[in-house]
Amino acid sequence: MHSSDKIINAMLDEKLLEKIKEHVSYFPRKEQAILLCLHEIQDHYGHIPKESLKDLAQVLEVPLKHVEDVVAFYDMFDRGEPARHRIRVCVSIVCDLMNKKALVDALREILGIDFGEVTKDGRFKLVPVQCLGACAVAPMFMVDEDTYKFEGKEKLHEILSRYP
Ligand code: FES
Repeated sequence: MHSSDKIINAMLDEKLLEKIKEHVSYFPRKEQAILLCLHEIQDHYGHIPKESLKDLAQVLEVPLKHVEDVVAFYDMFDRGEPARHRIRVCVSIVCDLMNKKALVDALREILGIDFGEVTKDGRFKLVPVQCLGACAVAPMFMVDEDTYKFEGKEKLHEILSRYP
């Protein structure tokens, strides 16, 4: 094992590290894999743990500041503020084609927050995710571990009211 791998393993578990290295291997320059790797980390932990940025910077061989700037720039990355419930919204192709935009607009309107943010009362956090394998109910979202199809704003309101 390479000595830097030991440090990385302290935060990123082995499976995740393998996936990250696989992504990195597809690109001519390691740093080009940064968004893919950040998505992988977010899917794994449910947010981007601050400590993982240092490890990722090491794998990509870029300064830590660069990784921090990328995370800060994109609102799709969740920096880990706690909330009682996590709403995951699929932003992949099938859900996109099936009017994900209406779902996202309705969520923004009802909750008053954007991706990566937490409602003022700490009740909900909005997180974008890649395909969750529930394309049959696109456009789909999850509240904690429950999967739903978006069927209009009224129904969405009703669903959210089940999560105090
Ligand atoms: S594309 Fe959204 S669940 Fe598959």
